[in-house]
Amino acid sequence: MAHHIPCKLLFLCLTFFTTTQTQAHFAEESLEICEIKTPQQTTKLHFYFHDIPNGKNPTAVIIARPANLKTVGFGTLVMIDDPLTEGPETSSKLVGRAQGMYGEAGLDSSDQQDVSSLLMTITLSFTQEKFNGSSISILGRYRVSDEQREMPIVGGTGVFRLARGYALAKTYKYDPKTGVAVSEYNVFVLH
Ligand SMILES: *[C@@H]1O[C@H](CO)[C@@H](O)[C@H](O)[C@H]1NC(C)=O
Repeated sequence: MAHHIPCKLLFLCLTFFTTTQTQAHFAEESLEICEIKTPQQTTKLHFYFHDIPNGKNPTAVIIARPANLKTVGFGTLVMIDDPLTEGPETSSKLVGRAQGMYGEAGLDSSDQQDVSSLLMTITLSFTQEKFNGSSISILGRYRVSDEQREMPIVGGTGVFRLARGYALAKTYKYDPKTGVAVSEYNVFVLH
């Protein structure tokens, strides 16, 4: 019986190669196991997120807003490239950047400097140690009035390939005069 098994495997391989010779095919069932590391590991990340909307070098800029709005309110879209640092000070070691967009998705936001519920669509790209070049994608609600905001991690690249998890954010410091907001992030990633 035992010698039948290699024959079957050879047959499968031959079938696989002969049916995939054409280059123009959109999808195929793969006999290869894609590069998934097992077992899964959990990584906890901790950093500070600096959102700087004003000044000489803003890292957050309004890219769209409804015509009837003068400042920030429902419908405002902001593009960001915010620094992520190890400690809370801006001068602290840079560990990555948060690049992407957030938009005011709460109807109860007023036409003032305040916001209510943001839709965050951002990529956290890291630059340190084994995380250099790897990223985490976040898509979720950020309710500003909550003391702690939770956002889902919907994917990742590099060491974070196929990531899942969640990010918890808390305001560390907010200056209403400059608009600069520093948030503390605790991120739990399964990857
Ligand atoms: C991260 O990777 C980039 C590109 O490979 C490299 O230029 C840079 O020096 C690396 N940074 C650190 C801190 O290792």
